[in-house]
Amino acid sequence: MSNSFKLCVFISGSGSNLDSIIKKQALHNYEVALVVSNKAGAKGLDFAKNASIPVFTFNWDNNDKDLTFVQNQIKQHGCDLIVLAGFMRILPKGFISAFENKIINIHPSLLPKYKGLHTHQQVIDNKDKIHGASVHFVNAELDGGKIITQTSIAVENNDTAETLGARLLFREHSLLPHTIALIGQNRVQWQTNTLYFDHNKLINPIIFND
Ligand code: GAR
Repeated sequence: MSNSFKLCVFISGSGSNLDSIIKKQALHNYEVALVVSNKAGAKGLDFAKNASIPVFTFNWDNNDKDLTFVQNQIKQHGCDLIVLAGFMRILPKGFISAFENKIINIHPSLLPKYKGLHTHQQVIDNKDKIHGASVHFVNAELDGGKIITQTSIAVENNDTAETLGARLLFREHSLLPHTIALIGQNRVQWQTNTLYFDHNKLINPIIFND
């Protein structure tokens, strides 16, 4: 595994995306080298512990010392990419610029629609017919970085925010590992400020609907 593409995954809660990332390590030839959480009691940390992956948890608020420690840990573990998989805090600008174009986030909406929280409820309230999830690079603007991939699902008449969210989460579990693999294989890569997919400029998001 030592030559594989190394990930640091950030979580805050149940960690089902982390679980799917871990389960697909061999399939996609990447390795989760470190898991970070702002919540010591996050249920998802069990997935990391069960897979013997090092874990670091801390209180994110006003804690520059811990933040510097995390940055050093990420470097020491040789992480190539930071994956925000249900990480519910906004990263400080200094942290983002220290890892420019090396942080991706999964967001439960078809960005640029519905940045921020309560995306499933907004879809229901607005009577949208289609919902989805996006994986994007993280920049200083909340949920505003370049979108890499998306998946979409139909909204049924009897859907609630809960049923919709659960159906979408299932899709996220494929979308995120696939996207990581595209980056690990250098199929998606930055050249100066432009993102390329298979050597073509990435204009529209890559669609994964499986
Ligand atoms: C996922 O639906 C993810 O897209 C969302 O949190 C959930 C985490 O689930 N992320 C955000 O809302 C980020 N703004 P998980 O902990 O079971 O992976």
